[in-house]
Amino acid sequence: MNNLGIEASGISKVYLDGNRRLEIFRDVSLSIKKGEGVAILGPSGSGKTTLLNILSGLDAPTEGRVVAAGEELGRMSENEKSHFRNKKMGFVFQFYYLLNEFTALENVMLPAIAGATEHRDEIRKKALSLLERMGLAERAAHFPSELSGGEQQRVSIARALINDPEILFCDEPTGNLDRSMGLEIAKLLEKFFKEQKKTVVMVTHDERIAAMADRVWDLVKRSYKNGS
Ligand SMILES: Nc1ncnc2c1ncn2[C@@H]1O[C@H](COP(=O)(O)OP(=O)(O)OP(=O)(O)O)[C@@H](O)[C@H]1O
Ligand SMILES: [Mg+2]
Repeated sequence: MNNLGIEASGISKVYLDGNRRLEIFRDVSLSIKKGEGVAILGPSGSGKTTLLNILSGLDAPTEGRVVAAGEELGRMSENEKSHFRNKKMGFVFQFYYLLNEFTALENVMLPAIAGATEHRDEIRKKALSLLERMGLAERAAHFPSELSGGEQQRVSIARALINDPEILFCDEPTGNLDRSMGLEIAKLLEKFFKEQKKTVVMVTHDERIAAMADRVWDLVKRSYKNGS
């Protein structure tokens, strides 16, 4: 059985801005096992978000290739890729990106409605049960503006889970929260994904949160912290 979650081989990213050439990183290779939780650490501006966007197919590398959830991302059309991302990947960001004109429940339902393989009633039920697991049963009908930052982030985690993704990508999921809420969110993520054996790739500045991961990969040193 294929035990690979994500494999990046020799990826580089260069931005061309007029005649300025900005190389963010070169020749990065990284391999993440299925079901493994990996934290990516690196200083601000080192390219963590860029790398995460490349691993998830949101952005294309200038060179190199990425295989995620069994597919080579560079071989897919944009259309296939967005379908694949919706089905196989979940995303949690620092600034939540909930849609303000929709309730918490509707925000959680949206990725499933976009994929449209289940009936709306089924999707609603699943979304409600995820909100419940996030401790937000009473907030389902609230709009994002009526929720605290920590609550909004929990809604966005529920949204990331609605399609049962194989891989969850998190970019500084606690970056906008105070310490104790940040730790609470991180524990919630950890509990959930250990339980469900999902592959998790998480960018974080926070060493305490990185410490919850199975392995920590350092973008500057280009290696896993414990040498593996
Ligand atoms: N579209 C773009 N065009 C040109 N340069 C870009 C573009 N996107 C990002 N960069 C540059 O790439 C570098 C890495 O950015 P990135 O957002 O990946 O860093 P990061 O490690 O996530 O930083 P932070 O911890 O602050 O979020 C930065 O210097 C940034 O200015
Ligand atoms: Mg970033």
